[in-house]
Amino acid sequence: MHLLKLKRVRLFIIILIGYAALSSCGTSGIILQTAPNRPSEKIISPEIKAASLAEWEEQKSFINNALQRDIYGTFPAAAQIISIDKTPLNPSIYKGQGRTENWQITINIAREDGTSSQGQFEMALILPKSDDPVPIITMQTFCPTNSTLPGLGIDAKYGDMCEGEGFGANLMLYVFGRYIATPPIEDILARGYGIATMFPSDIIPDQRQRGREAMTALFGPSNLGPNHNASVIGGWAYIWAAAAKALAADSAINGHKIASFGHSRYGKSALLAAAWSDDIAAAVSHQSGTGGASISRGKKGETVTQIMESYPHWFAPAYAKYDNDAPIDVEQHHLLALIAPKPILLGNAKRDVWSDPEGGFFAARAANHVYNLYGKQGLSVDRLNRFDPNANISYWIRGGTHGIVKEDWPAFLEFLDAHFK
Ligand code: GCU
Repeated sequence: MHLLKLKRVRLFIIILIGYAALSSCGTSGIILQTAPNRPSEKIISPEIKAASLAEWEEQKSFINNALQRDIYGTFPAAAQIISIDKTPLNPSIYKGQGRTENWQITINIAREDGTSSQGQFEMALILPKSDDPVPIITMQTFCPTNSTLPGLGIDAKYGDMCEGEGFGANLMLYVFGRYIATPPIEDILARGYGIATMFPSDIIPDQRQRGREAMTALFGPSNLGPNHNASVIGGWAYIWAAAAKALAADSAINGHKIASFGHSRYGKSALLAAAWSDDIAAAVSHQSGTGGASISRGKKGETVTQIMESYPHWFAPAYAKYDNDAPIDVEQHHLLALIAPKPILLGNAKRDVWSDPEGGFFAARAANHVYNLYGKQGLSVDRLNRFDPNANISYWIRGGTHGIVKEDWPAFLEFLDAHFK
């Protein structure tokens, strides 16, 4: 009895010391913080001042250019699809499974300097059984397509990184949630949606050196040297737009109901793809954080300086100025405004202050003006914890941390049903 008490006291002291240690050191202290339910009244600048839709339409190209120059890199006009090589995948292992294929997409990029390049990437898709064209959720994911859609016989080009019973795969699921590698495929098919998934590193590796090299090969020498303007996140969004174009041309797919879905770094590219692509009709961007939906200047959690140090290949070098006082023409609410009037879902978690859920709410609130100009309701709530799937800027927050957990996909599907059905 005595011994048990002593053990408990020891455990309590260890937890207390652990808590104190975590909260005293910058980055790790963030996991002990929570996002508020009631957002503060912060004014976001530069404010969007367009008084009419016509005025906003005039401002759009300036904003798009400024976002490219300062954050996402400068990109040539949309890629042309040269060919789509479709290989059928056989085993029928999912309930409701219809056509499944692996696509090898070859694109042509007409660069700004008059030269052109070609690129290739793979996309795997699974459609539900249906007599009518189906809506589809396109994804860029952390895992190669053979792990995102397991059991279909997709070649393990990069190994089974995210699959199996190994310690690494289990740890990943434990830390980042049950759906971090593979989405709930049968639930998605049962709701009538197809899934198309890409592994972005297949064409633009998520690595400093190799990412930059791939950007140079695709987009041209302006991506070299100290004044380069390469942004791998921008590159992924560019590829996403090409993938959506390829899907829209398939008669089994409803070309007006293509959504982009991404988590974290791919939540950033999912937003940008929705802003750039006429073929993407809605975005589900989960925990996109810095350089995604959250306002950059004065951001909580991960700062611009930190992201530029850890992932220098993700953004244009000019993005660094968001952590000093240099004047800025655009902020992340402009990115959301460029997506308007398409529906967006911003997914969040209370303890994911690294991403800054409140900063995403600020951006949504500031982008509202543009949704209203289109006669749409943007963000309809005044607190972070009131989910309205029908709103055109729908804000979702749950308890817990960074990852894709049990509650997330039902919310994503509720949002898509509200807008696509
Ligand atoms: C890091 C990075 C985030 C990013 C995340 C991810 O945590 O700091 O900005 O969103 O990786 O993609 O998982």
